[in-house]
Amino acid sequence: MTGKAKGSDAVAAQPPTTQRVVKVELGERSYDIIIGQHLEMGGLIKGLRPSVVMVVSDSNVDALYGDRLEFELKTAGVASARFVFPAGEKSKTLSTVERICCECAERGFDRSSVVIALGGGVVGDVAGFAAAVYARGIRHVQIPTTLLAMVDSSVGGKTAVNLPQGKNLVGAFHQPSVVAADIAMLRTLPDREYMAGLAEVVKYGVIWSADFFREIEREAGRIAGRDEEILRDVIAGCCRIKADVVAIDEKEGGVRAILNYGHTVGHAIEAASAYECLHGEAVAAGMLYAALLSERVKGFVMQDVLRIARLLRQFGIEPKNDAVWRGMAWSDIRRAMDVDKKKKGGIPRWILVERMGSVVFGCEVEERVLAETWDVFRRGGLDG
Ligand SMILES: NC(=O)c1ccc[n+]([C@@H]2O[C@H](COP(=O)([O-])OP(=O)(O)OC[C@H]3O[C@@H](n4cnc5c(N)ncnc54)[C@H](O)[C@@H]3O)[C@@H](O)[C@H]2O)c1
Repeated sequence: MTGKAKGSDAVAAQPPTTQRVVKVELGERSYDIIIGQHLEMGGLIKGLRPSVVMVVSDSNVDALYGDRLEFELKTAGVASARFVFPAGEKSKTLSTVERICCECAERGFDRSSVVIALGGGVVGDVAGFAAAVYARGIRHVQIPTTLLAMVDSSVGGKTAVNLPQGKNLVGAFHQPSVVAADIAMLRTLPDREYMAGLAEVVKYGVIWSADFFREIEREAGRIAGRDEEILRDVIAGCCRIKADVVAIDEKEGGVRAILNYGHTVGHAIEAASAYECLHGEAVAAGMLYAALLSERVKGFVMQDVLRIARLLRQFGIEPKNDAVWRGMAWSDIRRAMDVDKKKKGGIPRWILVERMGSVVFGCEVEERVLAETWDVFRRGGLDG
């Protein structure tokens, strides 16, 4: 983004630095992920030649960046409207999607209109799903503003909302036309949200690349300190991995499932804590649990389990000290898992680590082992 309009001081005018562009190769649905600082959004969106755009955002992000984006669109000659909903997972509902669609209809949106998701994963999922279903699908652009959204939720085309029965139960695959991640926007992100996003960064190393994991370990201090130079490369690295996985298996018929590493238990913790645990915090705990399970049933070496634990702790996520889920019995987790989608025929399938950077998916594990591992885990069995 450029710094001409009023809005957050956090993104003041500065010369643009080098950008990274990662391509998601999906034939006619291919698109670019652009990662940089102070990206010029107006021109980028004008390039899509939209009749009109709807900028969907939540109350926090709109207050920080809504005016700026509107100004940039106006300057670029792009007609736009804004839809803002209250920040938080509780807004990730069909009713929010309905209101967005009604707003689009009232403003005469057609197949050449574009929805822009300006925000974190909640905005991305809600706005992406609205774009997937409005007029049987219109284009959308993801402008992720949290670390989690930059490295994960904005890429790959999964969109969804929650039902009272569970997370992400209603959704669609709908790829964006472009993803534009402006790292400078992370300056305003609260520490807790930033740290939670780092859990997904760690995930990519564990599931796909031991070298990437080592790089994150090496640069952990700069990453935790939000050094934007290293962040640009780390975010690009995560997007590259996600793009590669999605290009192989767009609709999660197989290998894409590995991106859910740590999410089987993570989603259950999130739901059982009534969303008191952030997604990334819950995933961090889920990843450690799955790592410990991998040690028991796949021979994943304990030394590497402890490396994951150490890195998460270094990033301040401290998953094992989270009283919210530490107090949960395996039966609480299991109940929450039962409404989750990642099981076939009632049996949960696990993504387990064989060695750093290499996982297997679709694994069944005996219930007794699952429960025992949970007890070891929540009693601090990884404190070493
Ligand atoms: N579609 C996918 O592939 C996918 C993948 C992972 C997660 N998700 C979903 O993403 C959601 C979690 O996303 P999230 O962690 O980004 O949460 P979020 O969207 O709720 O954002 C977290 C908080 O940070 C605020 N915020 C966002 N950007 C900010 C900024 N730059 N400065 C200041 N505040 C800012 C938001 O208003 C919110 O209060 C969950 O619903 C999860 O299911 C989807």
